[in-house]
Amino acid sequence: MEDTSAPTELLHPDSLQTNVASFKTAFQNHGLRDDLIYFACKANSHPSFLEAAKKAEIGIDVTSEKELADALAAGLDPVRIIVTSAIKTDTLLQRCVDLHVTTVVDNFDELKLLQQQQSSKTPIMIRLGGWQFNGTPSATRFGFLPSQISQIVELCQQAKFDIRGVQFHLKGYSLEERTTGIEHALGVISTLREAGFQPEILDIGGGIPVSYLASETEWIEFNAQLQSSILDRRDEVTFNRDGLGFFNVKGEIVGAPSFYPYWNKLTKGEYLDALLKRNLINGQSVAKNLKSQRISLQIEPGRALLDQCGCLLAKVAFNKTDSAGRHLTGLFMNRTQLMSSSSDFCVDPIALSERPTKATYLVGSYCIESDVIMKRRLHIPELRRGELLLIPNTAAYVTSLFASNSHGLGEVRRVVLEGSGGLP
Ligand SMILES: Cc1ncc(COP(=O)(O)O)c(C=O)c1O
Repeated sequence: MEDTSAPTELLHPDSLQTNVASFKTAFQNHGLRDDLIYFACKANSHPSFLEAAKKAEIGIDVTSEKELADALAAGLDPVRIIVTSAIKTDTLLQRCVDLHVTTVVDNFDELKLLQQQQSSKTPIMIRLGGWQFNGTPSATRFGFLPSQISQIVELCQQAKFDIRGVQFHLKGYSLEERTTGIEHALGVISTLREAGFQPEILDIGGGIPVSYLASETEWIEFNAQLQSSILDRRDEVTFNRDGLGFFNVKGEIVGAPSFYPYWNKLTKGEYLDALLKRNLINGQSVAKNLKSQRISLQIEPGRALLDQCGCLLAKVAFNKTDSAGRHLTGLFMNRTQLMSSSSDFCVDPIALSERPTKATYLVGSYCIESDVIMKRRLHIPELRRGELLLIPNTAAYVTSLFASNSHGLGEVRRVVLEGSGGLP
């Protein structure tokens, strides 16, 4: 690695095949179609992943004109592309109409615009949200509410849309909530069929869990020690006792974790298998309901397809002690280069050194006090200037979602590795 002010991400796109295989096995075990897997390329839009997805014969889920153009340039057939963007420009919608790319419609403005740009063959899917879960609407800002379905039917009848199916994407990972989403979606599909449409696809979006940690015990222990530190019952576990979503209110923990559940029992295909086995209100499994109603299940994983497809290498700039007496390891990178929607990346880095372990915080190159790359205090072998730290499993969102190029320090460089070996 050159002496650079930005880190390097090593990508291993071939590992995507293993993740695809995990989902295919789950579909096959239930006798369902196994080709309706769409890679949510917003998770990492590096061209090597588009190529890997094409090689694995899966589709691509795109969220902008640029991603659509990239998917087409990678040789994807428009029928293997789906557009799920939260915001859609007029030209993106026109491209979808012209190319017959399936568009997941989120709101009435999009439906009306499509109606104006219309060709009656425009394939669409209706995004759903706000169904009842545990007595309250499932919380989301996306999709149409249950009360809006009859209005959609009317509008789509006027416009003669080709409704291919319905879609939803959960913000969490709950099997229970997802099952209620499927129940609701099946109800909407039957309403659409009664109205003369022929929807055949139920798309449950992405959000299929990944496990970043091998040990559940380690994860439980971290959570326990974090809470103990927030309650001032021990020394710092995180920088300045950051609660990562939890707070100490009069000696009680309140709040909820604002970080990803880095350990999960059910992941990828095993999670899908468990979902397909769950019973719906009629006492039959999700898989049986889908088959008896001639509906195919579609998924749009981003994170799960990129599991073990990338790792980040950063060079050490300095060792020092801050005014609170804490040891700091300065890196040639900044915290936006390791930032997803999770409040911390709770995976231990691997120090490429055999020196004794030292407690330290990783800090970055921006001139702001808060440029702390990982909020957790780490216990890793000491590294000296010029030596390398490896951060595992970074391909999905972590190095790209919020990465900025402030201070002129450069962007994450990406190097593609080939071969069957896999990454650390
Ligand atoms: C509509 C939709 N589909 C798929 C995904 C991919 O989710 P994940 O990367 O968690 O699998 C997202 C993520 O935000 C999404 O909003």
